[in-house]
Amino acid sequence: MPTFGHMREIVTTDHAALLALWLRTPGIQVRDEDAYAPFCAYLARNPGLSLLIEADGQPIACLMAGHDGRRGYLQHLLVDEAWRGRGLATRLLDEALRRLAVLGIHKSHVFVLRDAPDALAFWRGRGGWGERQDIEVFSTRAVGA
Ligand SMILES: CC(C)(COP(=O)(O)OP(=O)(O)OC[C@H]1O[C@@H](n2cnc3c(N)ncnc32)[C@H](O)[C@@H]1OP(=O)(O)O)[C@@H](O)C(=O)NCCC(=O)NCCS
Repeated sequence: MPTFGHMREIVTTDHAALLALWLRTPGIQVRDEDAYAPFCAYLARNPGLSLLIEADGQPIACLMAGHDGRRGYLQHLLVDEAWRGRGLATRLLDEALRRLAVLGIHKSHVFVLRDAPDALAFWRGRGGWGERQDIEVFSTRAVGA
């Protein structure tokens, strides 16, 4: 019997299927940190916060979530193209924010690429999310990395 819409926590054995999903989804930037070892380290550091939704045992939507003890950070929110517009991203987001709140994290950030129109439309439509006009993001890498 096919199943659709089951949400569960991401585990390390999901890496290959999720990497394939990330790689085929425009708007998602795959980086060194998406390799297997850092993926596992991220899950271990942020247990129970990253989630996926399955159809027939395959991930069709996901969200990586973590925090630094003060703010939550959301990454790789995506829904496979055929499954968009059914509220799956909203379900993942609501559940991750609920889990962060249980840990005492009541404010979260997401960084959205300026050339990701679907993502921008989604976030601009979210009640309770403010698009920051007062912050520019600067990034660096550790020396030698
Ligand atoms: C952004 C994304 C995750 C939305 O997934 P989704 O499952 O379609 O989202 P939902 O069905 O939960 O939509 C929630 C709301 O956003 C709106 N929305 C979603 N995509 C939209 C779009 N492209 N344009 C306008 N509104 C959009 C929906 O209409 C819905 O509004 P409603 O709550 O008023 O009905 C999906 O488009 C995606 O995977 N994009 C590519 C990856 C990406 O860029 N991810 C973001 C990284 S920050």
